[in-house]
Amino acid sequence: MKVLLTGGAGYIGSHTAVELMNAGCDIVIADDLSNSCREVVKRIEELGKKTVRFYEIDVCGEDALEQVFSENDIDAVIHFAGKKAVGESVAKPLMYYKNNLDATMNLLEVMQRHDVDKLIFSSSATVYGVPKVVPIDEKQPTWCTNPYGWTKYMSEQIMRDVCAANPKLSIVLLRYFNPIGAHESGLIGEKPNGIPNNLMPYITQVAVGKLKELGVFGNDYDTPDGTCVRDYIHVTDLAQAHILAVKYLMEGNESNIFNLGNGVGFTVKEVIETARKVTGKPIKAVEEGRRAGDPAVLIASSEKAKNILGWKPEHADLEEIIASAWKWHSSHPQGYCSVQKEDK
Ligand code: NAD
Ligand code: UD1
Repeated sequence: MKVLLTGGAGYIGSHTAVELMNAGCDIVIADDLSNSCREVVKRIEELGKKTVRFYEIDVCGEDALEQVFSENDIDAVIHFAGKKAVGESVAKPLMYYKNNLDATMNLLEVMQRHDVDKLIFSSSATVYGVPKVVPIDEKQPTWCTNPYGWTKYMSEQIMRDVCAANPKLSIVLLRYFNPIGAHESGLIGEKPNGIPNNLMPYITQVAVGKLKELGVFGNDYDTPDGTCVRDYIHVTDLAQAHILAVKYLMEGNESNIFNLGNGVGFTVKEVIETARKVTGKPIKAVEEGRRAGDPAVLIASSEKAKNILGWKPEHADLEEIIASAWKWHSSHPQGYCSVQKEDK
């Protein structure tokens, strides 16, 4: 079976690529390297013990994507490609709408032209906006608080509409909660580009000494210690869910939506405290005001993924998950390259 991974050189895509290869699949990756680098592909090949067909292309470009489908007999697609920084999306909304929506629409068009009718999409817990009930199941209403979130919400809607018009097409929407951690080898992980937006890469950058301190955004939420609660999931458990989703679609099952989280919440302070224990570093944290748009508590109900896909996340222990992230970040403080220029 041949699976195309758009954005497959990124954080979640690279981990999924390795798991797919280890499950016996052939992999094609299409990535413009806007947030990754070629070295990732080499490491995927090393860990997956197979070569990868790699295309350095913008998925928004019709001709380039057309070539990928013409040259490969693709059975299923996993669509990771997209920009993901919430703050940047507020500052540059058009860049986000253009990149994330054009990529989705172009991919759907080219897939239809080539009769490829199985797609898995990287969505996000962000589509639940500020939830009224936790844990959150897939029936909760959706709404967003920022342009990045709206690109996920709109991509989901576009996919539903295209599925309604083309009954042959089946799509699984995977709504990730907070992926952290890295492959056990420590060879691939989340690229620490610039000043991170997300909590875990920020913590590890303070721990390695690249940043002096981190801000704790808000201490007056209605949570056990006043800081936000999130559901942190190991990236390899997330990768496994993609393999099960591919299998689910290949067995001819219908389009579906699955939340992916551990079902356990940790406060920001608990995460920082655990990271101090794991790294043995002081990790200076300074209490700051709330970050706009942050819901107090996001915890997944992933019962549906467990019941229907047979998904069994294996890493529920926060200490173990953070230790895997630390193994990667402490051995690759500059990302994939030893040179100071981090982006490539
Ligand atoms: P990432 O930035 O590491 O990976 C995305 C990859 O897509 C990068 O390699 C980038 O170079 C590529 N890309 C972006 N735009 C492209 C385009 N137009 N054409 C070709 N390649 C393009 O991000 P990630 O954390 O691996 O996230 C993967 C997907 O999961 C994204 O769609 C993201 O929005 C979604 N997601 C991520 C999280 C998270 O916390 N990491 C949570 C929920 C959803
Ligand atoms: C955010 C997005 C989510 C997106 C994900 C990956 C929202 C509401 N959330 O998740 O859609 O998929 O990023 O890009 O749109 N925190 C600090 N200090 C920091 C960084 C974070 O205290 O320096 C806190 C935040 O306030 C939050 C928690 O840590 O409470 C987790 O933040 P983060 O890692 O950014 O993830 P989310 O905001 O949950």
